[in-house]
Amino acid sequence: MTSRGVPVVPAVAAATAIIFFVLTAGQPTATAAIVEHTFIVSQVNMTRSCKETLVTVVNGQLPGPAIEVTEGNSLSVHVVNKSPYNITIHWHGVKQRLSCWADGVPMITQCPIRPNHNFTYRFDVAGQEGTLLWHAHVGCFRATLHGALIIRPRHGASSYPFPKPHMEIPMILGEWWDMDLAQLDRNMVDGDFLDNPTAMTINGQLGGPFDCSGIVKDGFVLDVETGMTYLLRLINAALFTEFYLKIAGHKFTVVASDANYVNPYTTDTIAIAPGETTDVLVVADAPPGKYYMVAVALQTPKPDQQLPFFMTSGTVQYRSHNNGTRGHHNVAPVVPDLPDQHDTMTTYYFHGNMTSLRHPRRPQVPVHADEHFFVTLSDGSICRHGHPSCKRSGSNESILVAAMNNVSFQLPV
Ligand SMILES: *[C@@H]1O[C@H](CO)[C@@H](O)[C@H](O)[C@H]1NC(C)=O
Ligand SMILES: *[C@@H]1O[C@H](CO)[C@@H](O)[C@H](O)[C@H]1NC(C)=O
Ligand SMILES: *[C@@H]1O[C@H](CO)[C@@H](O)[C@H](O)[C@H]1NC(C)=O
Ligand SMILES: *[C@@H]1O[C@H](CO)[C@@H](O)[C@H](O)[C@H]1NC(C)=O
Ligand SMILES: *[C@@H]1O[C@H](CO)[C@@H](O)[C@H](O)[C@H]1NC(C)=O
Ligand SMILES: *[C@@H]1O[C@H](CO)[C@@H](O)[C@H](O)[C@H]1NC(C)=O
Ligand SMILES: *[C@@H]1O[C@H](CO)[C@@H](O)[C@H](O)[C@H]1NC(C)=O
Repeated sequence: MTSRGVPVVPAVAAATAIIFFVLTAGQPTATAAIVEHTFIVSQVNMTRSCKETLVTVVNGQLPGPAIEVTEGNSLSVHVVNKSPYNITIHWHGVKQRLSCWADGVPMITQCPIRPNHNFTYRFDVAGQEGTLLWHAHVGCFRATLHGALIIRPRHGASSYPFPKPHMEIPMILGEWWDMDLAQLDRNMVDGDFLDNPTAMTINGQLGGPFDCSGIVKDGFVLDVETGMTYLLRLINAALFTEFYLKIAGHKFTVVASDANYVNPYTTDTIAIAPGETTDVLVVADAPPGKYYMVAVALQTPKPDQQLPFFMTSGTVQYRSHNNGTRGHHNVAPVVPDLPDQHDTMTTYYFHGNMTSLRHPRRPQVPVHADEHFFVTLSDGSICRHGHPSCKRSGSNESILVAAMNNVSFQLPV
């Protein structure tokens, strides 16, 4: 649902877009086209797991609209806030050179967009190619206010540093919460981390065993044709969950992460953390049929607080050679071996194997450092009210905090 050309653009923004055009038209080298979107933030009722929940989304959809730009384009997104909440949108991973005011961090780079107010984000997307995501940067609303941000090379798909895929498919892994996300945020600010998501999703669909009607639904379906290569643009838009993703009978070739090309490597399991993106090639080289893709939520090892076991599934479905329709209706899909939810080594090796592929248009990383810093990031609990000891897990006597070099964040007063 791209809104390019849809006339819901505020008059001021439209005028600005024309000025932009005139300025750039004078420069013969400038190819900066402007990609425009209108994001209407509103609340809609959505039913998942047989329960209706009021969710805050962009343009009535979950996930929200995908933004597609070519490297070097200018992006202009008009946000119309019809929700009852303060909202900002953050362009996760966009470098924002000379446009930090468009970064979408409330009370830091901008005042939040109040209910019934509008705001236009304008910035250039330059020096980066691949997949990123946009999401709300207020409380926990990013759980439902998110979407893909795809940056294509300016010289087309034939300039990818990997074989040109036949098709590109964004795949967003997420969490479904059947509670009010504003309440979830209040609970967390209060130090209460006891709420759990209801289910996990692929492109907004629960899939597999989570359909309460008793009928096992396919969830997200990836239609493939034998011999073709697919570029899956994987995005983890969950609030907290890291996933392992597998497709029965298929391997992945990892080619990019967070809008950086990487030295390609092949694996049967993808590990993807919240906010991370990974571009992978999948070749449809298995015997034609139906194959499950399964995403399992990782857990920290015991004795840390344990969540319920979460997974979600979709299917890879081969199109029949003969008549182009989906065949194999009665054949049960092939199930992958499920990765263990407590396995920490797979994500360690997965990320350890990720090395940057230098890009011809990008400067090299400087090898000399003037100063070295030792920084530790940690998650832990502290006792409320400065008590020296307290019950730690699943208790309201302690608060979970993140810290950097043992210093936690405190809101300025
Ligand atoms: C916000 O944008 C919408 C759609 O263009 C428009 O109808 C509305 O008047 C604008 N509101 C404000 C406060 O500018
Ligand atoms: C959502 O559903 C509730 C109960 O069915 C209804 O009262 C409410 O008006 C609905 N809200 C929207 C935005 O559709
Ligand atoms: C919303 O943002 C405005 C500043 O733009 C602030 O004054 C107000 O307190 C915020 N409201 C909430 C509910 O956070
Ligand atoms: C298409 O092929 C599938 C699987 O081979 C078969 O089940 C189906 O009946 C065929 N449909 C038509 C219209 O020929
Ligand atoms: C890369 O993956 C392989 C196989 O999982 C593993 O043995 C190796 O240690 C990994 N390399 C790094 C640097 O993590
Ligand atoms: C903490 O939890 C206990 C029971 O689990 C409850 O009785 C008590 O009121 C709670 N205290 C606060 C400050 O919320
Ligand atoms: C970290 O902070 C806590 C609480 O202030 C303190 O007890 C502890 O000694 C600190 N640890 C280090 C390594 O500085």
